[in-house]
Amino acid sequence: MVVSTSPFLPRPGLAQRPARMGLPALALLLAAGLLPTQAYPPARSFQLDYEDDCFRKDGAPFRYISGSIHYARVPRPAWRDRLLKMYMSGLSAVQVYIPWNYHEPLPGVYDFAGDRDVEAFLDLTAELGLLVILRPGPYICAEWEMGGLPAWLLWKPDIVLRSSHPAYLAAVDSWLHVLLPKIKPRLYQHGGNIISVQVENEYGSYYACDYEYLRHLLGSFRALLGTEVLLFTTDGTQVWELRCGTLQGLYATIDFGPGTPMEEEEEEERGWEGPGSVNSEYYTGWLDYWGEAHASTSSARVAQGLEDMLELGASVNMYMFHGGTNFAYWSGADFKDQYKPVTTSYDYDAPLSEAGDPTEKLFAIRTVISKFQPLPVGPMPPATPKYAYGRVVLQKHADLLDVLDVLCPSGPIQSQFPLTFEAIKQAHGFVLYRTRLPRDVLDPTTLGAPPHSVCDRGYVMLQQEYQGTLERDGQTMLRVMGREGDTLDVLLENMGRISFGANISDFKGLLGNLSLDSSPLSNWLIYPLAIDTAIQQGWPHAALPKSSSRGRAGPAFYTGTFETPGIAWDTFVKFPGWTKGQLWINGFNLGRYWPPRGPQQTLFVPGSVLHVGRPNNITVLELEGAPPTPFLLFLDQPLFNRTLTATE
Ligand SMILES: *[C@@H]1O[C@H](CO)[C@@H](O)[C@H](O)[C@H]1NC(C)=O
Ligand SMILES: *[C@@H]1O[C@H](CO)[C@@H](O)[C@H](O)[C@H]1NC(C)=O
Ligand SMILES: *[C@@H]1O[C@H](CO)[C@@H](O)[C@H](O)[C@H]1NC(C)=O
Ligand SMILES: *[C@@H]1O[C@H](CO)[C@@H](O)[C@H](O)[C@H]1NC(C)=O
Repeated sequence: MVVSTSPFLPRPGLAQRPARMGLPALALLLAAGLLPTQAYPPARSFQLDYEDDCFRKDGAPFRYISGSIHYARVPRPAWRDRLLKMYMSGLSAVQVYIPWNYHEPLPGVYDFAGDRDVEAFLDLTAELGLLVILRPGPYICAEWEMGGLPAWLLWKPDIVLRSSHPAYLAAVDSWLHVLLPKIKPRLYQHGGNIISVQVENEYGSYYACDYEYLRHLLGSFRALLGTEVLLFTTDGTQVWELRCGTLQGLYATIDFGPGTPMEEEEEEERGWEGPGSVNSEYYTGWLDYWGEAHASTSSARVAQGLEDMLELGASVNMYMFHGGTNFAYWSGADFKDQYKPVTTSYDYDAPLSEAGDPTEKLFAIRTVISKFQPLPVGPMPPATPKYAYGRVVLQKHADLLDVLDVLCPSGPIQSQFPLTFEAIKQAHGFVLYRTRLPRDVLDPTTLGAPPHSVCDRGYVMLQQEYQGTLERDGQTMLRVMGREGDTLDVLLENMGRISFGANISDFKGLLGNLSLDSSPLSNWLIYPLAIDTAIQQGWPHAALPKSSSRGRAGPAFYTGTFETPGIAWDTFVKFPGWTKGQLWINGFNLGRYWPPRGPQQTLFVPGSVLHVGRPNNITVLELEGAPPTPFLLFLDQPLFNRTLTATE
């Protein structure tokens, strides 16, 4: 995506005219003969024809109407349903990102199993008769944690991401040597359904502007995928974005939402012109940030913009066609004046809702598509059934501070001063920092950290009593009182690494010293917490609750169970009176909830994580404060914004 607070990008000013992206212009740019023009195309070919200004598939003029879906945001049991609905909408292709950090959790450790089985996902697209436009990064943005780059790249703090820095290139190369051989047999030329492959993503928006890096990637992609596949780049519409994002030998595409730059009056200067032009990200909606209004884009406007582009003969990819969910810790963040974390829901106001249901927008788009190409015969599969399981009472299991032995079995790391998550090799989630007050503090005294050094939230406890929360850009100090030797704990939460912009080296944890009345605290014990590992092993349901009942404030675990009547339908869970935290059901991490900050009020619970005929184990980590009577409310519809909460 292109960062902007709204899908309607500012209209380019005179000084910043978008580049002309018609194919004749590109033909001049790309006159290096890198794309062979063949008099007799091979049996299976997908090529650009500069002369006739169009794509050619098996020699015949071709344009695609595509939609984005991210398998990492959709539970595997739902893949077929979502892809079938996309096919039945009249799409000829899907556009798919591959998040590197989803597949290489540690250097040289690869995971392509279960929800991460990208080959199984690609098999399904082929089975359903969809073509694929593949976006394997290595950087993808996607509002995904660190734009898809693995956090372990930051173990070398001086690394220059997305550049020809040797440490970065070495990691990229070893990843591409694992990934791209899985892709090669699936290329259209080799009998598969992948028609084109994107190199990097919106590189022109990145400060480094390192052509050496793009050239290196081009070389690796060509070496591993062959010379025939159509490789392309995608950038925003501004000249400066295209300058650094495009490269000879790579076909340049752009991305923009309804209203830009199609509404430019001066046809001549317009940044985009069909036919043969491609909009790689036509925005059907927009993402939500915690603390901002729920985004929505009218169906009529999206449909009209699509029709205008299709009239011109252009190829279009709708971003997103199905957004899905940022489960676990995968949501990214933006930086615009301040750190802006993305919500758990990635509904995107897309044509298929977060739960995969056809919306009014989908039918409006389908009607437009039907004017240009025949729709598949048969009905659109219906919305999946939802179920309101109702109220489920939870019990407090333990304060987080009382179960450190379970959450950090290897024990703490000692350090004079705080260490970052990256320094202790923890990618996501939570780390606890513990020290003792060096002296009596009999009057309220300032406990604080330098600006932007609490990344991203610090929950402060003194003698196990919750004192308040320090924030990255908000509240950076608290007033505390205590005795020499009192235990001070700060639980640090990573809210997702920045996925877009000039600086995506977004280190987590306590990045600076925590000071008491300006003097830095020292002698820390640092506990990297493996909460998900413990929960996946059945904790805390199989364990006895800890009896220490220190009240409702501060980080604590709550548990409960519920049964499904017969079939495990999808559902949405609301958090009445809860503040902020993380939810697991049967060990599956459903993501963050934060209703007071909003706009998202419910979390999507896919039926596939629920069990039939035995209890479903709920675990909640509440970070700030649970309600007096803790319960969750399972509904049959989502609540995306404050308006609905107020009237709920
Ligand atoms: C909240 O959602 C409802 C229903 O989806 C919609 O009608 C309303 O405009 C939304 N309000 C805001 C502030 O987004
Ligand atoms: C990015 O931000 C980090 C701090 O979060 C800083 O140390 C680093 O120098 C910045 N890098 C660039 C390229 O601005
Ligand atoms: C923390 O304080 C110590 C002692 O003043 C200093 O040496 C160190 O550089 C500080 N660390 C950071 C990250 O500012
Ligand atoms: C749920 O918790 C019970 C103990 O209360 C345990 O026996 C069971 O294995 C757990 N089920 C899952 C799916 O975690």
